[in-house]
Amino acid sequence: MRTALLCLLLLVAACGSKKDDGGGNGGTGASKPTDDTTREQARFDSDRKPEKVVEALGIKPGSRVADVGAGTGLLTVHLARAVAPNGTVVATDIDGAVLELLQSRLAAVGLAEVVERRVVGAETPGLEAGAYDAILLAEVDHYFTDGVAWLKAATAALKPGGRIVISNRIHHRPKSMEAAKKAGLVRQDESTPVPTHFIAVFVAPPEGGK
Ligand SMILES: C[S@@+](CC[C@H](N)C(=O)[O-])C[C@H]1O[C@@H](n2cnc3c(N)ncnc32)[C@H](O)[C@@H]1O
Repeated sequence: MRTALLCLLLLVAACGSKKDDGGGNGGTGASKPTDDTTREQARFDSDRKPEKVVEALGIKPGSRVADVGAGTGLLTVHLARAVAPNGTVVATDIDGAVLELLQSRLAAVGLAEVVERRVVGAETPGLEAGAYDAILLAEVDHYFTDGVAWLKAATAALKPGGRIVISNRIHHRPKSMEAAKKAGLVRQDESTPVPTHFIAVFVAPPEGGK
């Protein structure tokens, strides 16, 4: 009898501990940010001042914004916070593996629902026409083979009055500016909130402009 009772107690204890399997995330599929992730984000935020990028994009709750070459999502997190709860960030990259990491980062801070991931080809934006309030190119335009053609195609994806924001390391600035000019974009604003990077805001040319 005592042995049977002991077995029963052990069984109950084992069942109880199984409830915590799966990382203790309460079944949401999201895990909390690790200390490493939190430190990485803090370092990035201090180096790049993402709030200045969000400001340049002019996005707000409900906006639809593209984060081109989003990588692991260090900037995407800030864009998602700005457009939540009813806006969308379309995060594109040529590398599907980095977008998986992006998904984990966003899920860990409860913002996965706000972001749509999209693997794109290297030569095309992969963005639907007339749909975006803003398109961000952060540390990515130097990879384009034909930046002028890419920017012209991206311009077609803007809503009327939408913006294209290019931010990159200072040494890429001359090439970025030349491509934007040749694509017919009109520069509205520019700043250098950190010594390493510029942020330039462009709009589409006026109707009938080149
Ligand atoms: C240096 S990371 C920048 C990540 C993030 N935007 C940032 O500023 O921290 C560049 C990212 O752009 C992606 N990339 C490179 N060429 C691309 C292209 N033609 N279209 C979209 N993404 C591209 C790379 O795979 C990489 O994830």
